[in-house]
Amino acid sequence: MIFHCPVLVAEVIRYMRLQPGNTYCDCTAGGGGHLLQMLQASPESTFIGIDWDPDAIAHAQSVLQAYHDQCTLIQGNFAEIDLILERLKLDELDGILFDCGVSLYQVTTPARGFSYDHDGPLLMRMSPNTMALKERLRSISKHELAFILRSYGDVRGYRRIAELLYARRMSLRTTVDIRTIVEQGTPKRFQKKNCRRVFQALRIWVNDELNNLANGLAAAFERLRVGGRLIAIAYHSGEDRIIKRQFREHHANKRGVLLAKKVIRPSAEEVRVNPRARSARLRVCEKCA
Ligand SMILES: C[S@@+](CC[C@H](N)C(=O)[O-])C[C@H]1O[C@@H](n2cnc3c(N)ncnc32)[C@H](O)[C@@H]1O
Repeated sequence: MIFHCPVLVAEVIRYMRLQPGNTYCDCTAGGGGHLLQMLQASPESTFIGIDWDPDAIAHAQSVLQAYHDQCTLIQGNFAEIDLILERLKLDELDGILFDCGVSLYQVTTPARGFSYDHDGPLLMRMSPNTMALKERLRSISKHELAFILRSYGDVRGYRRIAELLYARRMSLRTTVDIRTIVEQGTPKRFQKKNCRRVFQALRIWVNDELNNLANGLAAAFERLRVGGRLIAIAYHSGEDRIIKRQFREHHANKRGVLLAKKVIRPSAEEVRVNPRARSARLRVCEKCA
């Protein structure tokens, strides 16, 4: 099973400017793909890997077994990076990576409830401590549901789909129930795209992804040593907006420098090999004195 295929690896390694003896943090360890490449590129550096998903941490632990002396893996929410670093007795870091969104494992494992392609329970949560989609839907208002579909998924016909979902929210049991409703409310030729958008919107809502990113990214910047670099990869316009805004503010306040003037995208060759990389957008900010 392929857990995840890391994107923009060469760019992450180049911008991280890995140095022996320095400490780096991957806030979204996932299957350990970026961590493994960074460990191989700089075996005398120290790494922290955080992920909210215990399955990701278990997988990363097995992939990174040979490096257990240089790499500490922690299950937790990156929005709580301060708490995590305090527990590790670490004040500052030399580089921090956020690779937002979901892993291939999460979206292709029916039991996790992220997938519209397979029947699965209405969970859609990254951490077992988060309230599942099924419970969240029971207490939502029609207005809120429409807002979520529009702002997190740009869903076509979001009002109608919100109405259909709202009317049947108490009897929804599986991901296929949601898919069926979306298909009912969408013209045939847009159904697949709209399913993807609805599932993305619900996932972002259930996991409070945009607030976590805004809080985690801001806290991470404060933990950077002067000269340290914050690298963030977005897959969705909502994520990219938060990253762009924070990095530009640091630049404007002379607390940071934007290292790449333009957003960095994967090459055509990378997208050919890994089509899921196509929406990736990488930004880098270096902390100034
Ligand atoms: C795109 S994947 C990262 C893949 C990883 N870079 C790799 O090479 O395998 C995103 C990961 O971020 C994790 N994640 C999402 N929100 C999180 C949060 N608030 N705190 C910690 N991890 C989070 C997900 O569980 C998922 O494993």
